Amino acid sequence: MEKATVRDIDVKDRRVLVRVDYNVPLKGGVIKDDTRIRESLPTLKYLMDHGAKVVVASHLGRPEGQVVPEMSLKPVAARLSELLHREVKMLSDCIGPEVEREVMAMKAGDVVMLENLRFHREETKNDREFSKKLASLAEIYVDDAFGTAHRAHASTYGVAELLPVAVAGFLMEKELANLGRLVAQPDRPFVAVLGGAKVTDKVAVLKNLVGKVDALLIGGGMAFTFLKVQGHSIGKSLLDENEGNAREILELAKEKNVTLELPVDVVVAADKDSTGGTVVSVDAIPADMMGVDIGPGTVELFRKQLLAARTIFWNGPMGIFENKDFARGTLEVAKILAESKALTCIGGGDSVAAVKQLGFGDRMTHLSTGGGASLEFMEGKELPGVAILKEKAALTVKGARP
Ligand code: 3PG
Repeated sequence: MEKATVRDIDVKDRRVLVRVDYNVPLKGGVIKDDTRIRESLPTLKYLMDHGAKVVVASHLGRPEGQVVPEMSLKPVAARLSELLHREVKMLSDCIGPEVEREVMAMKAGDVVMLENLRFHREETKNDREFSKKLASLAEIYVDDAFGTAHRAHASTYGVAELLPVAVAGFLMEKELANLGRLVAQPDRPFVAVLGGAKVTDKVAVLKNLVGKVDALLIGGGMAFTFLKVQGHSIGKSLLDENEGNAREILELAKEKNVTLELPVDVVVAADKDSTGGTVVSVDAIPADMMGVDIGPGTVELFRKQLLAARTIFWNGPMGIFENKDFARGTLEVAKILAESKALTCIGGGDSVAAVKQLGFGDRMTHLSTGGGASLEFMEGKELPGVAILKEKAALTVKGARP
């Protein structure tokens, strides 16, 4: 059963609870990247233009049931207000009598923002009573929080179960369509570039991708566990506690006849905060040094595979991206993807940041707003936030008023 979207329902004069993912990087009250807010605008504008009363809900950070002033959504409401060119009233909480009063007094086209859902411990527990309180605020539920769709929380699952109508927003629809193309029928060759620190964190996605791609390119900290399994000395480089995972993935790739490329050269340094770094072959990593980035030979090897690809998925940095001396490999991969004619989908914080840092955002097919969510999607898992929308689609009659 397919999920319905905002297009399929009548929202005029209806109170609509829109779950967005405004878990944005904040420093001293300043938003460092407002992509997730911008990406929610099409849904919010559509609802406003069609006369809905828009109640926006999100989490920010992990306050674990405490009211943490630094994690208030106030600066986010202010930014949203600028982007929408209209007042977004910030409410003092996400449930309770005062919030109810404010919401019941809304007029068609109004927008309010609830305070951080995770200031209540019940949110992440998908607590039934808390879900009921949230649901009492609205007649319709719209889920546009792809970035949180891998969490079965009160605002991503419980409320959707309770409200008579629950549909996807445009961002959710776009994410599922783009990432869905990769897992369904990718144009071949399909090449995946995976990086990041630990094999353990990516083992499920690696295993699933081995069955789907034509080539898998592995960089970042996790490449060293693979190199170690292949018999290289890796010095002080990152080593996963479970080498068996890497061994299993190497065997799987062989079995399925999938090309698996590992670095042939790397940048080494005394530690991750060093400056400079030296390029060495993977056969010559000094015992007292650690690998911090892929080397130029590896970039060329990856380039060959990537430029031949017709579909590319990239997740995870190729080195210690936060240190600018060790960010080159990641930036080079971003450049190659920008040159490529393939369908390019990028998931996860650092890889998306690299693409944006170079101003290449527009040259990619899709930059996912989901980190964990996009990975779990690529693992082949059904995301709870998506599953409940599909279930509800059966109950949402096209064009019918709730
Ligand atoms: C994210 O940024 O990946 C999402 O907002 C989910 O956040 P969480 O990992 O704290 O649930």
